[in-house]
Amino acid sequence: MSQVKTIGVLTSGGDAPGMNAAIRAVVRAGLYYGFRVLGIRKGYEGLIHGDVHEMNARSVGDILHRGGTILQTARSPQFKTQEGQKKAVSMANVFGIDAIVVIGGDGSYRGARELSNLGLNVMGIPGTIDNDIASTDYTIGFDTALNTVQDALDKIRDTAYSHERCSILEVMGRHAGYIAINVGISGGAESVILPEKTQTLDIDKEVIKPIIEGRNRGKKHYIVIVAEGAEGKALEIENQVTEKTGIEARATILGHIQRGGSPTVYDRVTASIMGVRAVEALKDNKRNRIISMKKGNVVDIDINEALDMKKSLPEELVEISKILSL
Ligand code: ADP
Ligand code: F6P
Repeated sequence: MSQVKTIGVLTSGGDAPGMNAAIRAVVRAGLYYGFRVLGIRKGYEGLIHGDVHEMNARSVGDILHRGGTILQTARSPQFKTQEGQKKAVSMANVFGIDAIVVIGGDGSYRGARELSNLGLNVMGIPGTIDNDIASTDYTIGFDTALNTVQDALDKIRDTAYSHERCSILEVMGRHAGYIAINVGISGGAESVILPEKTQTLDIDKEVIKPIIEGRNRGKKHYIVIVAEGAEGKALEIENQVTEKTGIEARATILGHIQRGGSPTVYDRVTASIMGVRAVEALKDNKRNRIISMKKGNVVDIDINEALDMKKSLPEELVEISKILSL
């Protein structure tokens, strides 16, 4: 018998395509295993204010294909305070919530850990387009975001070729260059500028030189990918390319288009598996776990261990991107 009777589910931090598939999986698996499931709107902010409602199989119908999150999300400064966290726990008690499934990023996990320290059972599901959560190889939304960026890049490439220009594309990734490096490879970029390597960035060597060498080999257009975390670099590179090579350069900042859109099959399936596994962990009386993808398998990890983990961009991808930019 599970000690948990009522599960709350919320989405928190930046939204990501596939969050709805995860919500649906938590609700339907919850009902399947005999739990009561409550939806909490607007993340921790909504929990503090008791924005909580009963969910049934129908309340998650027709959402698998939708981007964003039907539960909405928020960044809650109040929840970062001890007072806010205590309010959240007492509100959970008011609604009889024994366990909360938190779908979000690293910050949301830190919030979940605070709830666990106050006695609430928590399960984390990784949802962010940035793929920057240390405890998991994959975060829900990453694949969809990559495909959105790739689609934009293919369009930009058409016009860059027509005008023989250099296009600089700034993609999301506040702290990590997973989107940038993957799209750099899939889109055939001359250079990829990563937040992890901004400190040592030498624009002459890493951007100007490959462009000039490419022109000498007959290239007709040039693509530079810049991760958002490499702050201000897209516009700086635009100026320097024009000034130092005479090639016209245009920077495009893709922004929030990367966060929306219908999730890919991979994101829907991964979110569905993770949602079911989170509920099954509760059924098995597990406490305070993070659902993670490890070498192709979905596993659960203790929340403290998960938050102590470190993850870094595979150097192999950086190397491959350089080799193929000839
Ligand atoms: P993400 O989950 O995508 O990383 P944020 O970092 O914005 O997004 O975190 C989402 C929310 O989680 C924050 O608005 C805040 O309410 C809560 N949170 C973040 N960090 C902490 C923390 N260290 N302690 C408690 N709550 C936190
Ligand atoms: O979802 C992650 C992320 O997209 C980061 O790459 C980005 O810096 C951040 O969220 C921006 O979020 P917002 O515009 O909602 O503050």
